[in-house]
Amino acid sequence: MEERKKAIGLLDSGVGGLTLVRELNRLLPGENIVYFGDTARMPYGPKGPEEVRSYATEIIEFLASTQDIKLMIVACNTATAVGLSYYQARFSFPVLGVLEPGAQAALDKSQTRRIGVIGTEATIASKAYPNAILAMDKGAKVFDKACPLFVLLVENQLIDTPEAYKIAQSYLEPLLQQGIDTLILGCTHYPLMEHVLAAVTGEQAALVNSAQYTALAARKTLSEKGLLNAEKGGWQRFFVSGEPRNFEEIGGRLLGYDIKAYRVLF
Ligand code: DGL
Repeated sequence: MEERKKAIGLLDSGVGGLTLVRELNRLLPGENIVYFGDTARMPYGPKGPEEVRSYATEIIEFLASTQDIKLMIVACNTATAVGLSYYQARFSFPVLGVLEPGAQAALDKSQTRRIGVIGTEATIASKAYPNAILAMDKGAKVFDKACPLFVLLVENQLIDTPEAYKIAQSYLEPLLQQGIDTLILGCTHYPLMEHVLAAVTGEQAALVNSAQYTALAARKTLSEKGLLNAEKGGWQRFFVSGEPRNFEEIGGRLLGYDIKAYRVLF
């Protein structure tokens, strides 16, 4: 197969990485996409780094051996935080994560350089965001907070409930008290509840959805390698490890068209 016609592979624990598919649809509509949501083993956030790394590696191996892939995007902050350089060393195609693009975007946006980061327990424990931000700007101040319930609210379709607002309030209040002016949504599930988060942060903090910046990074990588597919109407194929219905329902609503997911049993 002609190299540029190969697909972009994406992985996440569930529907979160679809927020990146939405951005790719806007920016690179000609690209073919294969997506894997590891719904049977979701959430990744409470799991240890080795376990998450091994799941992500298994998924990339599956996509690499059954699909034609020219670029892999780890559309999951947790799997990026615990293993990006590991995957990059292991596979021959380029592998992008979602963390650096978000960190850079936050620095570009922030006036006060007081930046908040929310993510899963594993992402926050890894300190990957503060490390990335401080490597780019030593004078920045980073305040982070694990928000373990957010992924469950999204995956269980509970975001538009009074409880979701209360939970968001209790997670974000300590960060707002630190005077942050920018908040990184350090989990690809969080843009699905952006309206809830924005209602809590109000005018004080701009929200950074790293999906937008990762899509730009993907375009840059493909363009540098002469692999952009400029044709219209790329196709998409979705795989899940669990029951597909919930994934198809949330995904269809997010993307604005019906999707069908194939179940893969590891
Ligand atoms: N969406 C993922 C992330 O960006 C993982 C969420 C989870 O499974 O805990 O971190």
